[in-house]
Amino acid sequence: MEAIIRPDKESAALLVARIIARELRSNHSLVLGLATGRTMEAVYRILARLHREEGLDFSLARTFNLDEYVGLSPEDAQSYRYYMNQRLFSQVNLDPRNTHLPNGLAANLEDECHGYEQKIERCGGIDLQLLGIGQAGHIGFNEPLSALRSRTRVKALSPATIEQNAAFFGGAQNVPRRAITMGVGTILECNRCVLLATGASKAEVIAKAVEGPITSMISATALQWHARCTVVVDEAAASKLQAADYYRWIFANEPEWEEFR
Ligand code: F6R
Repeated sequence: MEAIIRPDKESAALLVARIIARELRSNHSLVLGLATGRTMEAVYRILARLHREEGLDFSLARTFNLDEYVGLSPEDAQSYRYYMNQRLFSQVNLDPRNTHLPNGLAANLEDECHGYEQKIERCGGIDLQLLGIGQAGHIGFNEPLSALRSRTRVKALSPATIEQNAAFFGGAQNVPRRAITMGVGTILECNRCVLLATGASKAEVIAKAVEGPITSMISATALQWHARCTVVVDEAAASKLQAADYYRWIFANEPEWEEFR
């Protein structure tokens, strides 16, 4: 794992967008794993700008989102399909047939989860997985105690996650109770993952995810197993990292990051 600290929210999102753009330019048919949430909005805004202004080409890319609420239709403004259509898919030249999210309305949710795994496999696996982190440490909707080898499945949302998303639904009572999510094991199989976290509210969980012991209580800690995981944070989210100076030193000296400094 490596941790990169950027001065603010915008420059952290810019770095993540530029990592994605670099991967896409070197592999036009990239299989890109995507996340939703407030943090990712800035990344998608920047990717849309790179498409408009620099011709960043998504025409051959394939995408797989981490998760979707059970019971919401793609037209529901709170569904993740809707979020993705608005913020990225309609803003770049992705072929809609190449964009994938679990279907939260599937009659047989178990088959849907299994089929989702198969689709990822048929595409050759995920090249780059974008991740956010919940305040209680989930990646995707892998809530506390999610098995570290779990696959795509239906998960009950924790009270903390319901609270975190209550504002979008006009109150906690309206937040769906379940979601389909890629498992921790599914995520760990991607070639590369990039986790973005910004703001002081993420400082504590980032310190645990990066420097704490691996535990199923905080699914993000499993990323310490991953051979190629980059965690990008702003100063606020980095404020509880013990070894921040070391991470800054790596970023300043590692040749891979030269074009991003
Ligand atoms: C959403 C997802 C979640 C979010 C996380 C952070 O697809 O996978 O894990 O990334 O809950 O959400 P925000 O960015 O709203 O704090």
